[in-house]
Amino acid sequence: MSNILIIYSTTDGQTRNISQKLQQVIEQQGHKVSVIPVEDAPRIDLAAFDKIVLGASIRYGKHSPLITGFIEKNRALLESKPNAFFSVNVVARKPEKCRPEDNPYLQKFLRRISWTPRELAVFAGKIDYPSYRPIDRFMIRLIMWMTKGPTDPQAVIEFTDWQQVESFGKLVSAM
Ligand SMILES: Cc1cc2nc3c(=O)[nH]c(=O)nc-3n(C[C@H](O)[C@H](O)[C@H](O)COP(=O)(O)O)c2cc1C
Repeated sequence: MSNILIIYSTTDGQTRNISQKLQQVIEQQGHKVSVIPVEDAPRIDLAAFDKIVLGASIRYGKHSPLITGFIEKNRALLESKPNAFFSVNVVARKPEKCRPEDNPYLQKFLRRISWTPRELAVFAGKIDYPSYRPIDRFMIRLIMWMTKGPTDPQAVIEFTDWQQVESFGKLVSAM
């Protein structure tokens, strides 16, 4: 049995939902899983875990600086254990941009950081127009209009492929 840590960065909760689904899947494989927000990570003894998984969503083209800062501070420790990273964004709803090697945000991120995660995943996120601030709703609808996505201001659409999340959970269990 491994003791696995999942650290996530979220704004609207979808990356937390995905992390919790991963926890469920990995626990079904007989492991112990702790899921914590990146804000709490400095208080955690990382050395106590056998494997570490990081997950973060994209907002206006970037993952949170908190996750980047965490990676840079703990790179050596991350590399000393089986590790993985997943990104959550809505560009990944497109079949040609849903794999780690062809998702532009993940690729740009990997070029920026000094850590090379052992396993990678990209998950499509969620759009929840009614819950956004007007400026964000306007901007996301504009981006969606440009990329032929949904623009109805009442739309709430979850693009996440939970089967894909489950497969990644099994991969993490086995890594
Ligand atoms: C203000 C805002 C900006 C976003 N910017 C992007 C973006 O640049 N590219 C993209 O693919 N998705 C973008 N998204 C979509 C989010 O990545 C998606 O909603 C994801 O599910 C958010 O995850 P979270 O709930 O864990 O924060 C944006 C969403 C919001 C609300």
